[in-house]
Amino acid sequence: MRKKVTIIGAGNVGATAAHWLAAEELADIVLVDVVEGVPQGKALDLLEAMPVERNDVSIIGANDYTQTADSDIVVITAGFPRKEGMSRDDLLKMNADIVGKATEQAVKASPRAILIIVTNPLDAMCEVARRKSGFPRERVLGMAGVLDSARFSTFIAQELNVSVENVHSFVLGGHGDQMVPLPRFSTVAGVPITELMDGATVERLVKRTAGGGGEIVKLLKAGSAYYAPARSIAEMVDAILKDKHKILPCAAYLQGEFDIRDLFVGVPCKLGAAGLEQIFEVKLSAQEQQALKQSAESVRELVEALA
Ligand code: NAI
Ligand code: 2OP
Repeated sequence: MRKKVTIIGAGNVGATAAHWLAAEELADIVLVDVVEGVPQGKALDLLEAMPVERNDVSIIGANDYTQTADSDIVVITAGFPRKEGMSRDDLLKMNADIVGKATEQAVKASPRAILIIVTNPLDAMCEVARRKSGFPRERVLGMAGVLDSARFSTFIAQELNVSVENVHSFVLGGHGDQMVPLPRFSTVAGVPITELMDGATVERLVKRTAGGGGEIVKLLKAGSAYYAPARSIAEMVDAILKDKHKILPCAAYLQGEFDIRDLFVGVPCKLGAAGLEQIFEVKLSAQEQQALKQSAESVRELVEALA
């Protein structure tokens, strides 16, 4: 039997994620949105591309959760995106309500699913989903680190004029302006970028990565990024459905790892069929640890504002 993935929110990120999943023939897909006709229309349009793509997947759209029953993975993208001049944190209250209700309905239909949260502010929305679902931390993950690392890799590849295939980056911390790109762990053909660029260049790329979401918002004006975010969702789904034991930076509920407790923060996670299999506690320098702690504190402030 094919795997089943429900995507809640059939907007830019949700629909584009459905596109990547269908193109990879990863699973049957159910797109859910509150707007009548939109998830149905996008699902049918995507389904009609499958004979050309030669992929056998079912793609359906719905305005309720009936057809989402027994999903293996539920991806939550429902909510408002960031507009120009708006921080991710401005979205907090608006999106907490949406994510909370979507989680409750989704887990009722799919009590064994793994949740991948995408809605911003990401780390706080993961906490909303964890509380509402009552799921163990193995089955509540947030997507941000794959995206932020992909942005860092893009800028490194451009700067050094090398293939993106040679670049491997790590960005940890909360998905906010205080995220923590780690140059020491970011490599080109295995060589840390700190040995390939001067300090000022590294700093410039780090800054551009931290502001990567805002850079796209400024250009688009009416919305935020969706191609790279959607591809990053597909990367996590692929690692889980194929039980790859793949290490990806994801938001996970920390229980003392990196000296952080009871909080979702982006850290290196091993993903497989069970969801979160292991948190990789790489040894950070005092400065990196301090930056991670600071980033975690800004997440904690948001979580406290939720209560
Ligand atoms: P969008 O506005 O294109 O789509 C959001 C969709 O959610 C809309 O179609 C809307 O009708 C739907 N929706 C609203 N309330 C709903 C509910 N109760 N149930 C089901 N659907 C509902 O926005 P976009 O660009 O797709 O972004 C979605 C979210 O993802 C935003 O919060 C954005 O900030 C976040 N995001 C997070 C990223 C990350 O790295 N974690 C990256 C990119 C976006
Ligand atoms: C991004 O980083 C808006 O969080 C979204 O593009």
